[in-house]
Amino acid sequence: MKFTKRFKEEDEVHGTYELFSELFVSRLGNILGIPVLEVSLTHEGLVMEYLPRKVINPTDIRNLAQLKKALPFEEWVLNIDLKQDHLMADEEGNGYIVDHGHSLLSWKPLYYVYEIMNKPVTRFNLWSDEYHFKEGVEIIRSLDKKSRDVLLKESVNEVLSYRKLDSSLVNDFLEVSSKILDYREKLLCSFKN
Ligand SMILES: Nc1ncnc2c1ncn2[C@@H]1O[C@H](COP(=O)(O)OP(=O)(O)OP(=O)(O)O)[C@@H](O)[C@H]1O
Ligand SMILES: [Mg+2]
Repeated sequence: MKFTKRFKEEDEVHGTYELFSELFVSRLGNILGIPVLEVSLTHEGLVMEYLPRKVINPTDIRNLAQLKKALPFEEWVLNIDLKQDHLMADEEGNGYIVDHGHSLLSWKPLYYVYEIMNKPVTRFNLWSDEYHFKEGVEIIRSLDKKSRDVLLKESVNEVLSYRKLDSSLVNDFLEVSSKILDYREKLLCSFKN
């Protein structure tokens, strides 16, 4: 079964930035083995696998170690909306983190990005611990910046084939997001729980 997250029309810029973030973070996460869903774009919105339940208890999850290692990833992409409610599971009990619509520059004025840039931002710790957090940081460091930025550009371009946005606003997203990722990668170790 599929779940469709419909396009938001109330803010043209951040509605589109949200799609940039969702598509990019999904692809980045999938490359790095982070438990995020694959998403695809359609004219109605983002389509992904339907997850039937929320995760309340860590013992319910089959891929708990994988999930614990995902915390630095969520911090890296500046996901200010990671909360336990966004932890869901499929029929087999595999946990996934949903909703990356508030990552990177999406739904944030620039002054706010500066304010939170060097702080932990997630509101749920994925039951992580020092060991898994460090492993998660290593996963992030395994990716080179060039491939990361190519992926960012590709994801943005794919969204732009569905929704138009002024090129200076697109460039703002690309530049700020790339800086966020550079900057926070260096800080991650100091965020440990
Ligand atoms: N793949 C999925 N399968 C089933 N339910 C989902 C899936 N993704 C999200 N949901 C549910 O739908 C809700 C809204 O989705 P999401 O969080 O991505 O959108 P949102 O625009 O941020 O909405 P909200 O403000 O409610 O968080 C989630 O909180 C979750 O309960
Ligand atoms: Mg949400």
